[in-house]
Amino acid sequence: MSIKFEWDKRYSVGNEEIDAQHRRLFDLGNEMQNIHLSDMTKIIMKLYTHATSHFDTEEHHMKAIGYPELVHHRELHNGLISGLNHLIEKPIDSYTGLERVKQFVYNWIIDHILNHDKKYFEFYQEQTKSTISS
Ligand SMILES: [Fe+2]
Ligand SMILES: [Fe+2]
Repeated sequence: MSIKFEWDKRYSVGNEEIDAQHRRLFDLGNEMQNIHLSDMTKIIMKLYTHATSHFDTEEHHMKAIGYPELVHHRELHNGLISGLNHLIEKPIDSYTGLERVKQFVYNWIIDHILNHDKKYFEFYQEQTKSTISS
């Protein structure tokens, strides 16, 4: 099964830096689709590196704006990193293993951006609005 990550404005959280990092996650997700089994660990490592630095950026921003759900959001990030770690613990040496990785990556990228990152940006926008109007 091939999954395609297509950027759409509904994925935009309204911040250029964060959006650019999310787009990079999409690119890595697409790169993963047509890759040979033997290169899978390499791409997961790339994803791992990008994801950890992206999560740092987000958590830093959340702290700066006083996001009340920072602790919970950080737990979600840590859970995703553990999930990735778990996937690379054993060699991905079968078609089924490869599909499992792709599905996991697809689910977490889409679900996390749409359901959790968006929530924090809504908070940020509300806060910006109230600062401007006060
Ligand atoms: Fe994110
Ligand atoms: Fe996030």
